[in-house]
Amino acid sequence: MKKLVKNNVSWVGYIDWELETFHGDDYSIMNGSSQNAYLIEEEKTVLIDTVWIPHRDDFVENLKREIDLKKIDFIVANHAECDHSGSLTELMKEIPDTPIYCTALCQKSIEGQYGKQNWNFHIVKTGDSVDIGNGKKLIFIEMKMLHWPDSMATYMTGDNILFSNDAFGQHYAVAEMFNDMADQCLLWHEALKYFVNILNPFAPLVSKKIEEIKGLKLPIDIIAPSHGAIWRDNPMQIVEKYAEWADAYQENQVTIAYDTMWEGTAKIAHKISDVIQQKYPDTVVKVFNISKQDKNEIMTEIFKSKALLVGSPTCVNDILSSVSGWMSFLKSLRFKNKKAAAFGCYGWSGESVKILQERLKDAGFDVIEENIKSLWNPTEENFEKIPEMVEKLLS
Ligand code: FEO
Repeated sequence: MKKLVKNNVSWVGYIDWELETFHGDDYSIMNGSSQNAYLIEEEKTVLIDTVWIPHRDDFVENLKREIDLKKIDFIVANHAECDHSGSLTELMKEIPDTPIYCTALCQKSIEGQYGKQNWNFHIVKTGDSVDIGNGKKLIFIEMKMLHWPDSMATYMTGDNILFSNDAFGQHYAVAEMFNDMADQCLLWHEALKYFVNILNPFAPLVSKKIEEIKGLKLPIDIIAPSHGAIWRDNPMQIVEKYAEWADAYQENQVTIAYDTMWEGTAKIAHKISDVIQQKYPDTVVKVFNISKQDKNEIMTEIFKSKALLVGSPTCVNDILSSVSGWMSFLKSLRFKNKKAAAFGCYGWSGESVKILQERLKDAGFDVIEENIKSLWNPTEENFEKIPEMVEKLLS
């Protein structure tokens, strides 16, 4: 049964209900995901993207049920990452001469991953277009570094569909396909988590690209991303959210993230949380153990926060390795417009707070000098310093 998106456009992707991680193990999947591919059947028949390598046999078989593969006039490869290009090898065995429209960098990347196969690449850049009959055409829009150098979106005139590839997507399995059918809490949480953990490093480019797309004055009735729900109900709402998120976003929230050896640093974390709740009852406080809780979810909460407190005990003249690796990931997300402070216990040398302060500065945070550094277990004397630190951080 065809899964119609609009008129002669249908969804031919793969819903990955069992997926647990993405990008290796770097991105946690809590609510399934999908790789969305689309079939356009106008006078020309066009396939937009494919699906990930493990599903390539299913993909080609399902596509055969939809259409005689030889009827496909050309393929658009919006992006070379293997979750979208991974079925090309299998598909091209059946239709080896079919043109593939993509950016120059996409061709390079596809050939880098799968080897040179003498596929019939047609290189396109922003503004190039191709007629697909019935008065409709596809217009290509490069989306460089959103989130790979080769990334591209494709706009279909007539039906006014923007096939946005990764942008505006979510790792979220939605059998009902559309945003108005999806669970709204999950939809928006997964859209934000996706933005924070995949696109935020390129936030300045997101802002520019949104202005560029708005400048093209193309009517947009549907935004069809390559993961998750298709935005058909007020599709510009996700564009407006991206504009907001890309502009040094913050809410009235504070996140406290720590790891602990013998619970001393944990005690400080929870005491800081108590003090914030007492002194700033309108401020949302989130507390996470870095070793025990999911890093992508924690980063999503940090993104929403105006301030971050990070804690680690000193261990062999350093911070805990769990916190050290986590700090590298934090830096890579390039958060802006956030203050930060450090805390931690120690037994003798006591370097952790200073190291955390340096790492936070290096990650782009505005770090205050006030900190909580506790010899052995935290005492009332340590706790008495928390209100001053909190005030400096939140005033
Ligand atoms: Fe969904 Fe960049 O791949």
